[in-house]
Amino acid sequence: MDIEAIQITFESEIQNLKSAEELEGLRIKYLGRKGIIAHLTSQIPSLPQSERAGFGKRVNSLKDKITALIEEKQRNLSLNQGISQGAGADIGMPGIAQELGRLHLLTQVIDEICDIFQRMGFSVVVGPEIETEYNNFTGLNIPLEHPSREAFDTFYIQDYPKLLLRSHTSPVQIRAMKAQKPPLAIIAPGRVYRPDAVDASHSFMFHQIEGFMVDQDIKFSDLKGVLEVFAKGVFGEDIKMRFRPHFFPFTEPSAEVDISCIICNGKGCSVCGRKGWLEILGAGMIHPKVLKNVGYDFKKYSGFAFGMGVERIAMLKYGINDIRLFFENDLRFLKQF
Ligand code: PHE
Repeated sequence: MDIEAIQITFESEIQNLKSAEELEGLRIKYLGRKGIIAHLTSQIPSLPQSERAGFGKRVNSLKDKITALIEEKQRNLSLNQGISQGAGADIGMPGIAQELGRLHLLTQVIDEICDIFQRMGFSVVVGPEIETEYNNFTGLNIPLEHPSREAFDTFYIQDYPKLLLRSHTSPVQIRAMKAQKPPLAIIAPGRVYRPDAVDASHSFMFHQIEGFMVDQDIKFSDLKGVLEVFAKGVFGEDIKMRFRPHFFPFTEPSAEVDISCIICNGKGCSVCGRKGWLEILGAGMIHPKVLKNVGYDFKKYSGFAFGMGVERIAMLKYGINDIRLFFENDLRFLKQF
């Protein structure tokens, strides 16, 4: 076989072709599995020993040349195509704008809140969304007969050992305190799940931020001070805060915390139900039984904890009236923030 002759034939063939399809045909003819190069290679074993190496080398260099020429032709063809298509283009037409992405509003609010607490020395810790019954309830001193344990208030996902989708971020308290000794100051954002029917103010999944601090001599006034910095940071310096007595099994004493209505400034409107106040979180001093459950000496240590709903905070701050807007991912909504 005359390798030079093959090369010359190839060069004239490639010069004359005009389309990508023709080029592909030529590629298959020369480089394909049953192509000319493959055929040449298959002949090597039948050559006299002394000719094999030299012949093999020349076939290889022919193959490299053909490959390079085909690639070059490919580039030229697509370039020409671009130019011929562009020939009638309107060069005055505006370009295609690059869309700028952004963080979801909930991510922004979570970041903002965590930032405020981090500036006060809290560290961010996250826990898993699938939890044990112990961390979600028992360790938190929630009695066996408590209604929140019922299947219509908690998504159970496995029987033995019992696993569930956490219904609040408080189990992070148990995890963090079991893992570290006091002093600690932690902020724990994340998703929580409750089997609620979806409406303007309910969703089966939403976000909470848990905060807690444990050390010797932590007092309710420390909780008040920390929450005041948070409320003013998120809602502005003029915001007022009040604590109403409440009950949670894992805190004693417990409180619900309100801020003065940011819509009517405390005068009373439809958003605050004419009360002038908006509930924004639950809080209290960590129950001694919880401290005991994680192996802390409850005579030596005390702590506070609080938990808030992120969607609620975001809705109040930005005047959003339907929780479903956060999860529908309608860009007309998301782009506003
Ligand atoms: N876990 C409570 C809830 O989901 C909130 C809370 C957290 C209250 C910590 C007190 C202390 O309603």
